[in-house]
Amino acid sequence: MGIDSIKYTGSETALGACRLKLAECLRAALTSAYKDSLNDTNLLDADYIYSSFERPRNPEFGDLATPLFPYVKVLKKAPDKIFGEVSEALEIPKELGEASFAGGYINWKLNLGDFSKALLDECLSSEKQFGSSQAGAGKRILVEYSSPNIAKPFGIGHLRSTIIGASLKRVFEFLGHETVGINYLGDWGTQFGKMIVAYRTWDGEKAISEDPVRGAYNLYVRFHEEEDSNPSLSDQARKEFKKLEDGNPESVKLWEKFKDVSHREFQRVYDILGVEFDLVTSESFLNDKMESIIGRLTKANLTETSRGALIVNLEEYNLPPALLRKQDGATLYATRDIAGLVYRWNKYNFYESLYIVGSAQADHFKQAFKVIDLLESAENLSDKERMTERVKHIPFGWVKFEDKALSTRRGHLIMLEDVLKKAIYLAKEKIAEKNPDLAKSDNVAEQIGVGAIIYTQLSVRRLKDVNFTWAAALNFEGETGPYLQYTHARLCSLIRKYGKPVPGVERLDSELCEKMFSDQISRSLITTLARFPEELAHVARDYEPSHLCSYLTDLATLFNKFYQRKNSHGKLVRIIDEDENLTAVRMILVECLRRTIERGLNLLGLKAPQEM
Ligand code: ARG
Repeated sequence: MGIDSIKYTGSETALGACRLKLAECLRAALTSAYKDSLNDTNLLDADYIYSSFERPRNPEFGDLATPLFPYVKVLKKAPDKIFGEVSEALEIPKELGEASFAGGYINWKLNLGDFSKALLDECLSSEKQFGSSQAGAGKRILVEYSSPNIAKPFGIGHLRSTIIGASLKRVFEFLGHETVGINYLGDWGTQFGKMIVAYRTWDGEKAISEDPVRGAYNLYVRFHEEEDSNPSLSDQARKEFKKLEDGNPESVKLWEKFKDVSHREFQRVYDILGVEFDLVTSESFLNDKMESIIGRLTKANLTETSRGALIVNLEEYNLPPALLRKQDGATLYATRDIAGLVYRWNKYNFYESLYIVGSAQADHFKQAFKVIDLLESAENLSDKERMTERVKHIPFGWVKFEDKALSTRRGHLIMLEDVLKKAIYLAKEKIAEKNPDLAKSDNVAEQIGVGAIIYTQLSVRRLKDVNFTWAAALNFEGETGPYLQYTHARLCSLIRKYGKPVPGVERLDSELCEKMFSDQISRSLITTLARFPEELAHVARDYEPSHLCSYLTDLATLFNKFYQRKNSHGKLVRIIDEDENLTAVRMILVECLRRTIERGLNLLGLKAPQEM
C-alpha cells in the first residue's frame, strides 16, 4: 500500500512465526559479528531482517532466502565470507531449521515437523479464516469498478474493470478493511443528445421495443455512421443535449427510458457474474454539485478563461488543461469527476479511494487529482483534511477479443452477455464429453463457463493487454479457471472417497509430519500452502489479482504432482492407503488445500464446484 506499509501478515501465521524466529537468530548473529561496522545502517534492524526474506529461486536450496548483497556493499566482503563469519555466531534451534549458502544468499530450510503441524492447524482453525487479517480494520477503502455508460451496451471492455474491482474489494474485505463498492454510471453528456436525435429520426420506439439492448445499440451505431456524411446531425444532437440539460420534460422522459433499458441489461450481466455494489451512482447525480467546487477553485485563484472556456491550467505539470466549463456553459466528464472526488471524500472520509478504469484514461485522472491537489494546497488544508495521497487510478490494459480490438462506436462490439452465454454453452459441451452423468450439470456448466471468463481477465497482469481466445479460456489443463475448479473438484472427490470426516489436527504430531513432508514435492506443496496469507497481502499491496491467480495455479499444479507422485520403486503413492496415520495427515492436507483453493477462487469471483 502506498500510504503506510500495512503488514497484513504479521508473525501470527505459521510462516510468519518461523520468519520472526529466524530473523531473531540472524539478527543476533549479525550483531555479534558486525555490530560496529553496521551500526549506522538499518541492516541490523529486526524489521528489516524480517521483511528481507525472499523465496529461493530453486526450491531445493531451501524455503526462505536472505540476500547478502546489501551486507556485501557495506562490509566490502564477499558473500561467502560473510556467511562463514555469520554462521559462527548463528544458533538455530534444531526444530526450527538450518541455514546454508548459495549464490549470494543465506538459504533457510525449515524443519517441517513443527512447522507443518502449526500450519495445518492454522488452516483448519475455526476462529480465524486462513489468510484473513484484521490489519485493515478502521481503514475504509472505496473501490469504483464497472462504470459502464447508459445507452451503450455493456462491452467486454467494462468487464475487466468489473472483475478486477470486485476481486480487489473482496480481498480488501478479507484483510479487514471496510469497503464500499461503487458503480459510477455514465449517464450524462452529449451522447444523450445523439441518442435522442437517433431515436426520433429512425423510429427508436420500435427498435427498442423489439430488442431493447440491440435496438438502442443499433441507433447509436447508425448515428455515428450517418454523422460522417451528414454533419447537421451533430448540430441537432448538441441542441437536444442542451434541452435535456435545461430539464425539458420530454427529453428527460426519453433519457430516463434509456437509463431504464440499460440498467436492466447491466443487471443481467452482474447477476451472471455474481457481482454486487454497495452504491450505484452516476454522473448526473453530480450535476448540482459542480457549482460549489468550481466556486472553490475560482476563489483559490486556480481557474482561468481560455477561449471562452473555464479551465485550470496544468502546463506546469506537463498536463493538458482541465476543462471545467465549455464556452456554451456545459460542464464535462472531468468536472463531474472533480466534484465526485470531493463528494466521496466528504461522505466517506476514506483511507483510500480507487478508480478501476482502463489505462486510456490515465491523463484524465492525473488532471483531476492534480486539480484537487492544487486546491488543497491553496486552501492550506492539513494532512488529515487532504485526500490527494489517498486517491488512486488503478489502470488496466486493453481487452482484445480473438486478436481484434474492440470499439463501441463502429459496431465491432462484442456483446458481453453473448460471450458469457457462449462460455456456458461450451462448458456444457465439455462436461457432456468428460462426465456425462454429472448431476446438476447446468449449474456446474455455468460455474465453469463464467469462471473461465473471469479468470482470463484476472490472470494477466493488470497493466498488460488481455487477448481473449476461446481455446485458451476453456482449457481444463492450462493456466485457467476451469483447471483450478477441476483441482478443487478432485480434492472434494478424495474426501468423498475417504468416506469419513476428515481427521482433526489432534491426529498430527511433529514426527509424523516430518515423515510425511520429507520428499521435495510434498515439501514444496506444504510451504506453498503456507504462503497464502502473504500472497493476499501482495494482491492488496500491488492492486494485482493476478498474483493470486499465479499462486493458485502453483498450488494446484503442486497438488496434482503430489497426487501422481511415485515412490522410489516407481509405484504410485496413493493418498488413501493402508497406513492409517499417514492417510490421516494426507487427508488433513487435502482438506486444507481444498479450503484454500475454494477461498482463493471465491476471492477472485469464481465458484468452486464439488464435482465436474
Ligand atoms: N463511464 C466511463 C467510461 O466508460 C468510465 C467511468 C470511470 N470512472 C470515473 N470516475 N470517471 O469510459
